[in-house]
Amino acid sequence: MKSKLSSPFAEIPFLNTPIFLVPFLLLSLIYCLIFPNDLRLQSMLAPCNSAPATSTSAHQLAEEAYTAVDLRVLLGVLTRPCSYERRALLRLAYKLQPPPTRAVIDVRFVLCNITTEEDATLVALEIIAHDDILVLNCTENMNDGKTLEFFSAVPRLFGGADDEPAYDYVGKADDDTYYRLAALADTLRGKSRRDAYHGFLWPCGEEKEKDPAVEPFMVGWGYVVSWDVAAWISSAAAEEELRRDAKGPEDMTFAWWLRRAGRGKNVYGEGHRMYEYLDEAWMGGLSCYRHLLVPDTVAVHRLKERILWARTLRFFNATTGLKPSKMYHLN
Ligand SMILES: *[C@@H]1O[C@H](CO)[C@@H](O)[C@H](O)[C@H]1NC(C)=O
Ligand SMILES: *[C@@H]1O[C@H](CO)[C@@H](O)[C@H](O)[C@H]1NC(C)=O
Ligand SMILES: *[C@@H]1O[C@H](CO)[C@@H](O)[C@H](O)[C@H]1NC(C)=O
Repeated sequence: MKSKLSSPFAEIPFLNTPIFLVPFLLLSLIYCLIFPNDLRLQSMLAPCNSAPATSTSAHQLAEEAYTAVDLRVLLGVLTRPCSYERRALLRLAYKLQPPPTRAVIDVRFVLCNITTEEDATLVALEIIAHDDILVLNCTENMNDGKTLEFFSAVPRLFGGADDEPAYDYVGKADDDTYYRLAALADTLRGKSRRDAYHGFLWPCGEEKEKDPAVEPFMVGWGYVVSWDVAAWISSAAAEEELRRDAKGPEDMTFAWWLRRAGRGKNVYGEGHRMYEYLDEAWMGGLSCYRHLLVPDTVAVHRLKERILWARTLRFFNATTGLKPSKMYHLN
């Protein structure tokens, strides 16, 4: 067998670069030197970061990259231990999205107590491989307090006092919801970081007349609150009180907690950018909360079948990264 020789200069980026790329790399380096303050350009042109000037240490660079981030979001996808295929799909979907600019959105899968031998081993493997799972102290349920468990656990698990939160926002999503993280970051960036409650506001449009008495709430597909709201839910006094009222449809219940306590007063409904999936074939279902995929989507819900994920991911160009090769053909 032919063994691969490793070059002692492997760390020097230009030496491993195909010769025809060198002029471009040099040009972009010059660009970086001429426009040193344009952070956007610098982060777009990879060589700027991988060929640091000798006066800047790697540590300083890391620090700059960190401070350039001005928005941090924790998004918990509430799912069940047995949903292995859905988690695999969601991991792919989020990994292949273009990353948000100057924002970090950490996606975590949220489970209750693991109760079977099978899940104990298979979920352990997932944690070792991906480290993106939270197991809370609860029994698996939809409308029986898992949402409360999640929002109250996050401030405890991720630390950070109220004045120095680990994240600016905390959100939950269903496992049949596809958030577009860059769009979510962009929409949250301009919003209040205190007392915020973001999602798709119900009732919408024609639904308002059907039941005028219904108190508005963010539907459970996915909603986000500012860290102070999660910190409040996590506080001993609030948690004990909320625990008594944790049963019932989780999204309505959540809104009711906030309303009663005068929290989450900065209400941000996303309108047409959050919706339920609608296929061209079933146009009868068009409504204020359901329509065809649109390019400026923040989140689309009700992706319950593989084919709907496939169509959605293709619409958002997740497959354009596929390189032609003699190794495969996918028609
Ligand atoms: C977990 O939940 C159970 C039942 O709600 C409770 O009795 C127990 O104290 C909790 N354990 C921890 C470590 O929080
Ligand atoms: C979940 O598991 C923990 C640890 O095994 C146990 O202490 C707790 O009582 C369980 N909680 C529920 C709600 O079943
Ligand atoms: C996907 O890519 C095509 C071709 O570049 C572009 O026209 C379209 O707007 C993109 N779609 C979305 C949702 O960004």
